[in-house]
Amino acid sequence: MKKKLMGLLLVLAIGFGQQARADEGMWPLFLISQLQDSMQARGLKLTAEDIYSINKACIKDAVVRLMNKQNRMFCTGEIISQEGLFLTNHHCGYGAIQELSTNEDNILSNGFWAKSHAEERPANFNIGLLSKIEDVTSMIIDSLPTGDDESARSKAAAAMVKSVAAKLKEALGDDKDMYVIEVVPFWSGNRYMAMYYQVFTDIRLVGTPPENIGKFGGETDNWEWPRHTCDISIFRIYAGANNKPAKFDKENKPYAPKYFFPINIQGPQEKSYAMILGYPGRTQRSTFSEGIKFYSETERPMRVKVRRDILDIYESYMHKDPKIKLMYADKYAGLSNYWKKFMGEASALKKLNIYDRRKAEENKFAAWVKNTNNAKYADVINNYNEAYASVAKVGMFGVYLQDGISNSQPMNFAMAAAALEPLMMDKTKKDEVKKAAAEMAADLDKDFKEFYDPIEQKVLASVLMHLVEDLDNASLPKSLTDLAAKHNKDYNAMADAMWKKSVFVSQEKMAKFLKSPSLKKLQKDPIYAVANGYLTEVTKKMQPQMMKLNGQLGKANRLYQAGVLEMSPNALNNPDANGTMRMTYGRVLPYSGKDATFFKEFTTSRGVIEKYTPGDVEFDAPARLIDMMKKKDFGQYADKDGELHICFLTDNDITGGNSGSPVINGNGELIGTAFDGNWEAIASDFAFEPEFQRTICVDIRYSLFILDKFGGASHLLKEMKIIR
Ligand code: ARG
Repeated sequence: MKKKLMGLLLVLAIGFGQQARADEGMWPLFLISQLQDSMQARGLKLTAEDIYSINKACIKDAVVRLMNKQNRMFCTGEIISQEGLFLTNHHCGYGAIQELSTNEDNILSNGFWAKSHAEERPANFNIGLLSKIEDVTSMIIDSLPTGDDESARSKAAAAMVKSVAAKLKEALGDDKDMYVIEVVPFWSGNRYMAMYYQVFTDIRLVGTPPENIGKFGGETDNWEWPRHTCDISIFRIYAGANNKPAKFDKENKPYAPKYFFPINIQGPQEKSYAMILGYPGRTQRSTFSEGIKFYSETERPMRVKVRRDILDIYESYMHKDPKIKLMYADKYAGLSNYWKKFMGEASALKKLNIYDRRKAEENKFAAWVKNTNNAKYADVINNYNEAYASVAKVGMFGVYLQDGISNSQPMNFAMAAAALEPLMMDKTKKDEVKKAAAEMAADLDKDFKEFYDPIEQKVLASVLMHLVEDLDNASLPKSLTDLAAKHNKDYNAMADAMWKKSVFVSQEKMAKFLKSPSLKKLQKDPIYAVANGYLTEVTKKMQPQMMKLNGQLGKANRLYQAGVLEMSPNALNNPDANGTMRMTYGRVLPYSGKDATFFKEFTTSRGVIEKYTPGDVEFDAPARLIDMMKKKDFGQYADKDGELHICFLTDNDITGGNSGSPVINGNGELIGTAFDGNWEAIASDFAFEPEFQRTICVDIRYSLFILDKFGGASHLLKEMKIIR
C-alpha cells in the first residue's frame, strides 16, 4: 500500500511539476528544441526551429540587445521592418531621448516623430544581434585546477573566460571588430557558453511619445497593475557597406535584417498563447535560505533607505523646475525604479515565505545526499552556512559603493581621477598623465550637463551620513571618520567644508585641475580622500574576507547546482538569468493577487481617462489624447469590443533586461511589448509565483495608435507588415 502510494505520489509530483513549471523558466535557446511539445500544447503553431535555428533566419534574428557604448547590456528590442526599425520601451530609450533634449527642444517632454530618415537623430547606445552560440564548457573547465583552493580556481576560470573569448574573436578574422563575444557561465559555472553578438553602433531615434504618455502613471504605477502606459520608443539600426556594422555616418543605410516581426492587430484573447524572447539580466532563484534572510532583513532595507534619501533630494528640486527635471530625469527614474523594487522585495520575501520554501528544498537536497551517500555534495550546506555567517559584515561595503558613493557626482569624478594617481607618481609617465587628463577633460561638458550644485551638495551630505552611520567605522577610511568627528557628525557642515576645498565640484575647477594635474592637489582633495579612500582602503582591508566569501559561495553554488541536476537527471532545469537571450512561453491571463481581488487581463482607454489629472507630475496627459479617447476615435486599432486596449498581462517569466521584449502570439506575430512585472510577484527574481506572477505588456494596438493617430507618423506603417 505504502509502496503503491509512493509510486502514485511520484507520478503526481512529476505531473504537477510539469504543470506548474510550464510557465516558469527563462529558457536558454539551446534547450528549446526539447520544449517544442509543451509549447505546441500551449498553442504554438511554429516549430522550435522557427524560433531558434543555427541554419536559417528565424525569430531570434529579430530580437535586439540594447547595450551602452561600453557594450554593457541594458534592455531588449524587436525589429519590425525590413529597414531596421525596432521597438523598445520608452524607459529603455529614456537616457538617449533625454540626451537629445534641450530646454528649447525638449523632446522628452513633447515627444518626437522623424518625418524622414534625415530627421532621425543619433542615439547614445549600441545594439547587438545574436549570431551564434557555442558550448565552450570543456575549453574552460578542463583547464581548471582541481584542488581545494577555490579562489585559485575562480581566478583561473575568470582568466580562461577572457582568453577563450579573445581566441574566438581572433578567429573571426577581418570581421572581428564588428563582434562582441561574451563567455558566460550557466548553472553557476557547471556549463559555459560563448555568445557572439554582431554590434551596430549607428542607432538613431525615430520616434517617442511625450513623457506623459510613455511614462504615464510615473513611479506610483511603476511595478503595478492595472497599467495605462505606452512604454515604447522607436529606433533604427544603420549599417555601412554590405549591410555590416559601421560608425555613424550620414551615408550609412538602414540595416536590412535577416528577419523582422509581422504585427498582429487582431488583439490577444484570454488564455491565448504568448511567448517572449529577450535578455533577462539576472535572477537568483537558488539563493540559499540564509541569503534570503540577509536580503530581506539587511541588504534590501539598507538600499531602500539610501536611495530614498537621494530621491527626496532630487524630487524637492525636480518638481519645482522643469530644467532640473530634464537634467535629472534619467538618474531619477533609474534610482526610483529599483528603490521601489527593493522595497517590495524586502517585504515579499517574508510574506511569500521564501525562506521556508528554500529551506524545504535544501532539506530535500540534504536528504538525497545522505540517502545516496554522495560524498561530492556532503559539505555543500555547511559551506553555505559558513559563507553566510560573514556575508552581513562583508557584503554591505560593495552595496554602499554602488548605491551611495556612485550616486554622488563629485565622488564619481574623484574616483575616475584615481586612475591618474599612480601615473602621476611615476615621473616617466608625464605623457600618459597628460593624455588621461585630456580624455577626462573632453567629457566635462557632458558630465556637467547633469549636475546641479544644490542637489549634489545635499546628496554628498546624505551619502557621507549613511557611510558613517550605517557601516562599521573601524573599516572606513580614517579620512572619513576623522572628518566626521571634526564636524561633530554635522554632515551638512562636513559636505560644505569639503565642497569648498574640492576641485570635483565645478566644471571650471575640474578643467583647471585637468589642464595641469598636480599630485599634491589630488591627494589633499577632501572628496578624493574619502571616495578613493573608501575604494582602496576598504577593499584592502576587506579583500581577504571578500575573496574567501566569494570562493565559498562560488563553490557552494556550483556544487549545489550540479547536485540538483544529478538529483533529477530527466527534468529540464532552467538556469538563472545571466544576460543571455532567453525564451519564456505561457498565456495571456488574468490573476488574483489577494483575497477577494480579481484583475482582468487587459486595460482600456477608460482607465487613462479615469487616472488623468491635469497638472499632476505623474498622471497628466495630453488633452488631445484624452479628447480622442473620449470620442473613441480609434480606427483600426479598436478591439472587437469597440475599445482601445492599452496594456495586457501574460504569465511569462521575465526580469529586468527583458524590458522592451517582443510579446509574440502562436503564429510568431508581434502582439505587444513587455515592460514591467506586477507588485504581488515583485520578488520573482528569487522565486517564481505560478499563481499570480504576471508580465505587463503594452498592447501593440495602443503603440500603433500613438504612433499613427496621435503622433501622425503614419508613413512608418508602410515599412511594417500588419496583419488585420
Ligand atoms: N519597472 C520597470 C522595469 O524595471 C521600469 C519602469 C520604468 N518606469 C518608471 N516609472 N520608472 O522594467
